[in-house]
Amino acid sequence: MESVTGIESIWNKTCKIERKSALNGDIKTDVAVIGGGMAGILTAYQLERAGVHTVVLEAEQIGGGQTKNTTAKITCQHGLFCRTFIEKKGKETARLYVQANQDAVEEYKRIICQEQIDCDLRVSDAYVYSRDKEKLEQETEAAGELGINASFEKQIEIPVECAGAVRFRDQAEFHPLKFIEALAKKLTVYEDTPAKEVEGNRIMTPCGKVMAGKIVFATHFPFINFPGLYFARMHQERSYVIALENAGRLNGMYIGDGEEALSFRQYDRYILLGGQGHRTGENREGGRYIRLKEKAAELYPGSRTAACWSAQDCITADSIPFIGGYAGDCPDWLVATGFQKWGMSSAMVSALLIRDIICGTANPYEKVFDPSRFSAEEIPQLIKDGGNAVKGLAKRIFHIPDETAAALERGHGAVVETSQGKAGVYKTEEGEIFQVDIVCPHLGCELTWNPDERTWDCPCHGSRFDYRGNLLEGPAQEGIRHE
Ligand code: FES
Repeated sequence: MESVTGIESIWNKTCKIERKSALNGDIKTDVAVIGGGMAGILTAYQLERAGVHTVVLEAEQIGGGQTKNTTAKITCQHGLFCRTFIEKKGKETARLYVQANQDAVEEYKRIICQEQIDCDLRVSDAYVYSRDKEKLEQETEAAGELGINASFEKQIEIPVECAGAVRFRDQAEFHPLKFIEALAKKLTVYEDTPAKEVEGNRIMTPCGKVMAGKIVFATHFPFINFPGLYFARMHQERSYVIALENAGRLNGMYIGDGEEALSFRQYDRYILLGGQGHRTGENREGGRYIRLKEKAAELYPGSRTAACWSAQDCITADSIPFIGGYAGDCPDWLVATGFQKWGMSSAMVSALLIRDIICGTANPYEKVFDPSRFSAEEIPQLIKDGGNAVKGLAKRIFHIPDETAAALERGHGAVVETSQGKAGVYKTEEGEIFQVDIVCPHLGCELTWNPDERTWDCPCHGSRFDYRGNLLEGPAQEGIRHE
């Protein structure tokens, strides 16, 4: 996977995970987990502890997808959500949702202690800040109704304009790659083993077939379109993070309320500052890192950017992940996706819930996360995403006119008109031209250029491709390279 020079998370810079071998031949197992991110590794760990033989199939390297890009806050404080959840879902569902996530926080602490994992765990309080005092007070009250140890704090330690913050005590933060590496050592993990097709209980990979009693899809975005229709029930969003040196130290971890909200946490000598979120495929103007760095200079004069990177999140219409059976007609398939911005706690909720479903153990949270729930909130999203799709997935041949290629600035990408239709073009700093087909191979939406990351991004379901056309993120399963 290729990235723009200089874009690498602080986790990648501070932990190199040892490579594992690929599958070599056909195997049988009780459970196969597709995807070696946090959710996949935790699910395999919980199943193995319960005595269920489990293998993990990872297309590239464990932790190499969204896990390496998280801010790695482990918290049940998912924004200012308590009051909204009570209003939309009812108090009991809201209570179960928050309790499942608080259980997840405690389970991380327990595993790290029991397995003696050196992953820079820090127990700290989580805060949501806002300029709206009334909203904060209502949220504090609602959190209390749901059984959370919450308080309203007028003063907070970060230099933002606000009326205060809601504080949840005893949450946690850690180094996600150090954690995942330690856990994976206890498991059977095959890297460089992409699942290409799944039929019933059989997974086809280029390195052999896997027969599994149960199959867990923990691939961030499920890559099988039918059944399940997850592509029509979620969209993806991107956000950006910079690690700041010489910015002081924070005791807590913070997130703002609203569109322009920023995220803060400490790791080692760095403050991780996040923000500038947008729907994937909607960053035509670019400038996200520049604006984040400008904000850093304003908030922490004299600080220096030591790393910058971006993350991608799957968003469901009702803000609750899909965890459980993949679809009614596939009884042996399970799924964990739609973690919003809360990948760490949601990954652990998934692991515990999927373990219990497979082991036949009652779990009080099963219904809350059940993927078969249908929400009226999904309808507008279905219509919007459907409207974005265009027809015609046949491979197309383009010729970019010489004058068009010459007019493009170095280091820039653009969609250009050709006599055969639209094509994507990128000119490197050295003047080399790369052209791609901008019809997304997933379901045919038109890709857009993301100047901050020099990628082609899909506004429908969030697939991404580098400027050469190589696949970076699904649900698409192939690249858009134009020979
Ligand atoms: Fe679905 Fe592009 S059409 S990701």
